[in-house]
Amino acid sequence: RSEESQIVLEAHQWLAKLYHHLLRNSKEGKEAFQYLLDRGFSEETIKKYQIGFSPNSKDFVVTFLEKKGFHPQTMVKAGLLSTNDQGDYADRFRGRVIFPLRNHLGKTVAFAGRALGKQEPKYLNSPETELFQKGKLLYNFDLARSAIRKQKRVILFEGYVDVISADQAGVHNAVGTMGTSISSTQANLLKRYVDQVIICYDGDKPGVEAAAKAGQLMKETGCQTFVARIPDGLDPDDFIQKHGGDRFQKEVIDTSETYMTFLMSFLKRDYNLQIEGDRIAYIEKVLQEVAKLDRAVEREHYLNEIAKEFEMSLDTLKEEVQSIQRVSP
Ligand code: CTP
Ligand code: MN
Ligand code: MN
Ligand code: MN
Ligand code: MN
Repeated sequence: RSEESQIVLEAHQWLAKLYHHLLRNSKEGKEAFQYLLDRGFSEETIKKYQIGFSPNSKDFVVTFLEKKGFHPQTMVKAGLLSTNDQGDYADRFRGRVIFPLRNHLGKTVAFAGRALGKQEPKYLNSPETELFQKGKLLYNFDLARSAIRKQKRVILFEGYVDVISADQAGVHNAVGTMGTSISSTQANLLKRYVDQVIICYDGDKPGVEAAAKAGQLMKETGCQTFVARIPDGLDPDDFIQKHGGDRFQKEVIDTSETYMTFLMSFLKRDYNLQIEGDRIAYIEKVLQEVAKLDRAVEREHYLNEIAKEFEMSLDTLKEEVQSIQRVSP
């Protein structure tokens, strides 16, 4: 690791401490602190995740980092400060709730700043740097690792708040993919630790679409893949705040469907099953997916479901799957 990354790491640790301190002890941080309490975060959780507040100032952080001896130009490169054409340096995160993003070793390598109100963007993240690549980091992997290893199972969330809220509710094997659906780097990393993955993305349309993509990738790694369904377009944190952690465990996690069952209902959205041609096209599409399954037991299980739903013979469906496999094994 270069000397500069070492310095950048140090700056992140200092700044995480400062933001956290300001949230808990400054007059300016009071509103943000109350915001977090109102959202159901306990003080203990706020401490555990070192959540902070960036003051609404142009140069508070500029001054702080300068005093600590960090070169502003290096801090711009690190994504901690911004600069304009005149060469003036300015705070990058202003008036936001700060979530430190830690790498697998527990070192803060980036920040996400959430607006307190309706300002855009809702989350302002650090830019990609040598230390932080969104597609390589899994939010909370450092803290969740031991629970993940013990349970041989991981639960994937979209959001920082979902992960923290789940942890607070007793679900400790939780990591976040930070909105975007999981990358193959992240998927392969997880595969080294688990046999099972539950994708628990938001219940809205983008969340369901991202779950389909993430499911595909996780399935390809060879993990047993499940998808949790959250009703009423809620996200995991919304559900936990509204119904509590016990119901989240029982009604969302424990009732998650296999990826194939999820996919069969997901694919239905593209077809009108009242129309004969669509019905056949849909069955063909599903059989393509079934043909990709490695285990005969799994294939037969889903073929039985399809046979029942569309009143077809299991033999016909099996034959079709075999012919698909002959064409593209
Ligand atoms: N995200 C982001 N930048 C944005 C919006 C979202 O990086 N402008 C990422 C964040 O990691 C966020 C995740 O996508 O946590 C999911 O987005 P969303 O569901 O919109 O936010 P929530 O996590 O539900 O946040 P909140 O509950 O605070 O509204
Ligand atoms: Mn616990
Ligand atoms: Mn979302
Ligand atoms: Mn959400
Ligand atoms: Mn949310």
